[in-house]
Order: sequence, then C-alpha cells, then structure tokens
Amino acid sequence: MAQEDLFKKLVAHCKEYGYVFQSSEIYDGLGAVYDYGQYGVELKNNIKKYWWDSMVLLHENVVGLDSAIFMHPTIWKASGHVDAFNDPLIDNKDSKKRYRADVLIEEKLGKIEEKINKEITKAKKRFGDSFDEKQFRETNPRVLANQKKWDELHTRFAKALNDGDLNELRQIIVDQEIVCPISGSRNWTDVRQFNLMFSTEMGSTADGAQKIFLRPETAQGIFVNYLNVQKTGRMKLPFGIAQIGKAFRNEIVARQFIFRMREFEQMEMQFFVKPGTELDWFEKWKETRMKWHRALGFGDENYRFHEHEKLAHYANAAVDVEYKFPFGFKEVEGIHSRTDFDLSQHEKYSGKKIRYFDPEINDSYVPFVVETSIGVDRMFLQVLSASYCEEQLEKDSRVVLKIPPMLAPVKMAVMPLTKKDGMPEKAREIIDNLKFDFNCQYDEKDSIGKRYRRQDAIGTPYCVTVDHQTLEDNTVTIRHRDSMEQERVAISELGRIIGEQVNFKALFAKI
Ligand code: GAP
Repeated sequence: MAQEDLFKKLVAHCKEYGYVFQSSEIYDGLGAVYDYGQYGVELKNNIKKYWWDSMVLLHENVVGLDSAIFMHPTIWKASGHVDAFNDPLIDNKDSKKRYRADVLIEEKLGKIEEKINKEITKAKKRFGDSFDEKQFRETNPRVLANQKKWDELHTRFAKALNDGDLNELRQIIVDQEIVCPISGSRNWTDVRQFNLMFSTEMGSTADGAQKIFLRPETAQGIFVNYLNVQKTGRMKLPFGIAQIGKAFRNEIVARQFIFRMREFEQMEMQFFVKPGTELDWFEKWKETRMKWHRALGFGDENYRFHEHEKLAHYANAAVDVEYKFPFGFKEVEGIHSRTDFDLSQHEKYSGKKIRYFDPEINDSYVPFVVETSIGVDRMFLQVLSASYCEEQLEKDSRVVLKIPPMLAPVKMAVMPLTKKDGMPEKAREIIDNLKFDFNCQYDEKDSIGKRYRRQDAIGTPYCVTVDHQTLEDNTVTIRHRDSMEQERVAISELGRIIGEQVNFKALFAKI
C-alpha cells in the first residue's frame, strides 16, 4: 500500500476507534487542534509514564517539576522568543496560500534525496547480495548528479538560514522553480518573519491588563525554577529537571494530523552541567535518548539523527531524532546544547543571581544546559504509525494495532464465551481481581471472532476467554494479538503472565 494511503487510513482509524478526534468537530473543527479519545488518552498517559519514569526513576539526579503555563511576560523577552521565535513565511499570490519558506526548500531537498534512494533501491534489486551501496553512490552518474544538486542546494539553504537572509530564501524558491501545490504557479511574495507565540491578556482592562504569552515551550518554566529546585533539593551538578506540559505555537503550516499542532504537549528535560562539559553530556544524552526510542522495537533502521542546518539562538550544538513516518523521516525529538544562554538572560532581565556554587573550585558560575525535548503527540503518532497493520488472513482480513504491550491502552479483554452458565460472572471476577494491576475491559457482545477483531483494532495485546472448561478447572485461554496463538493457563497465573509483559522494566533494561 502506498505510504500516503496508509497514513490516510491511520487517521481514519484513529477517529473510528476513539483515539483522536478533531477539536470542536460539531462546529466544523478548529485548525490543527485535536482531542484525544478514550483510548488515545490511555496511550498518551502510557507514553508519558515511559518517558517520566525513564527520566526520574532511572536517573537519581533527575527530578520533576510542574510549572504554570502563564508566566511573567519578561521571561519571553529574556529567552529571545519575543524577538526571534519566528518562521519565514511566503505567500503564493494566486492561491493566496501561505507557506513556510524553509519547509518548501526542505521538501525540494527531500525530493532529490528520494530520487537517489529510488536509484539505490532499483540497483539493490538488480544486483542482489553482491550490491555495494558505497561504490554505487560513488560511481553511478545519475546518483552523482543528484547528489551534487543536493549538496549545492543544501549549502546555499543553510547559509541563507544562518545569515537570516530572507531575500536569498525567496531567490532559492524562485531558482529551484518551486511551485505552489494548490495553484501550480510560481507567483511568490517576499519572505517575511512571523512570530509564533499566542498572546492573551491577564487582569481587567480597567486595571490595565497585562499582555501575557501562552508558553511555546515548557523549558522556560524549568529555567526560572532552577534555583528553587537546586536549593530546596540540595542538588549537585550535574542534575536535571524534567517536565511534561502543554505548549502553544501559532503554526502557519499546520499539516499531517497531530504532527504539527497549535496546542501540543512536550516532555522536556534540562540537564545542568559544569561549563566545558556540555558537549560530552550532549553526546551522552543523544545516545540515551536514541536507546529510549529503539527499545520500543519499531526497527533501528527507522531512526536517524539529523544535524540542524541552523542553530537556534541559544544553542552551540543541536540534533534531531527523526523517525520514518509514512510521510518520510521527520523530527520527533530535539537534543540541544543550550549553553548558559537562558540562565544568563534570566540573570540579566530579573537582576537576580542564578548561579551554582561549586565546592570543588570554591567558586560560582552559571551552569550550562543540555536539553532533551520530545513532543508527546509526535511520539503518539510514531507509535501508531509503527503499529498500524492490515493483515490478510486465510478467510478474512484484519486491522491490528501492534502497540507494544506496555503502551497499549487496554492490556487485557476478558470475554465470556456465552452470556450464560455463570461465564459472565466468572469473567467479571477475573477483572475484579486484576483491574488495579492493569487496564482491563469486559467484552461480551457479538461472536468471539468479532470481539477479537474489535480488540485487535484498538491494540489490546491479550484476550482472555472464559469457556465451559473454565467453570470446571479454573483455566482460561489467552489469545495473543500479534501471533493470534492461543494457550490455556490457570486463572491464578494471568496476573503474572500479563503483568510481566506490560511492565516497563523490560524496556528500561535496554536504555
Ligand atoms: N525547548 C526546545 C523546543 O521546544 P523544538 O524543537 O521547537 O524545541 C521540541 O520542539 C519538540 O516539540 C519537537 O521535536 C516536537 O516533537 C515537538 N513539537 C514542536 N512543535 C510542535 C507542534 N507544532 N506540534 C506538535 N509537536 C511539536
């Protein structure tokens, strides 16, 4: 199936099975804002738990925080967001559609890369085991020509971004003959900067309301609490503060479902270190975060690091973790070495000393920061993209979400074979015994086959059936979602068998 079709089906599936709904749908929706349904919220909570525990349980020097969304407006001046949190935008005069100039160019780069990859895939098929990709890349004339195009465009693009040269960005779009996907024309306006922060007012206008911003990242809440946590927790460098919370950005090009939203959630960790050690910690966190992703078993080949073309105003090193979504490799997480930029700025703007007294050198300094920042919603999309499968079976077909058991919204569905002979009561008894250990669901409607399909579609890893034999010997069948195999086990063993599979411990062992 074409990847585009697969993505459309996944989006439809999310709605049909209570994972994700368009916000305000009965009022025709609100652009790039989504609600999570009954299964979506469970998956989201499990993703957050996987991240939170991997930060604060696995690292004794990482602690949590929950700071407010509303913050003093000077924070955003100090952080640079008021002046520099911009996207370069360009309009097509015919379609009147607005685009991010950098995204248009990145898509062009992606198309050239696709051409190279197609040549390689073709050659791989032709030459089989004897195929030497490195040699092919170095000698095939079409690959070489496209690689040259890519390198030249990439160099020019990176320079324009780093110089903040908006005229040059426009010129690249013109020179590359990039057309508007709607009108098909090349009738472009100039490129302009557009600030992404939402603002609102606090207090009544009569009192003189104050303009405040909805935070575009959770990180600043951590920076302004650095001293509070360091002092009250008696934290010694290096140490980290982790936070999960909502962030808001007035995204202009909001596309690809929950990939780019205007209201979304971040899981961020700021790791405070001694100046001069930040690049070592940057490498260490890069490795740890990649292991966290790969532990889920979605295939190592589906992840890669992507170095930033342009470093943000606060960073001296930055890399993205990209996952291969149905619409290509895209950023899921950013790992940034933010220097002492934020803490120094807050020192300057607040007039308060934000320092660490280092007993080893008997002196104090502003710590440097390495940040890991991942979007909950993008992670959610990653899990669903990797898990969505359509399978042809002997007699029929099924749609199954092969979500790792630890993340699955419902862990176990218990099904009485029929609604009589005490089977429903027995099924309820099993649920009552296990419902505080993991999420269980009772399901008695329709044939067993239909019930299996329903549970496959929401990704329940274990279906337990209560039948006549259960009433005689207290055993049940467990049907495994992915293999569809069934085994007979004692009811008393269910908690242990399923409990082991849905525990995060196995994942943490891989990090
Ligand atoms: N504090 C650093 C920071 O916010 P970022 O690269 O702008 O860095 C971090 O964002 C992560 O937040 C991204 O990797 C992505 O997963 C998520 N994210 C950013 N903008 C988003 C949006 N509009 N919708 C959904 N997720 C978003």
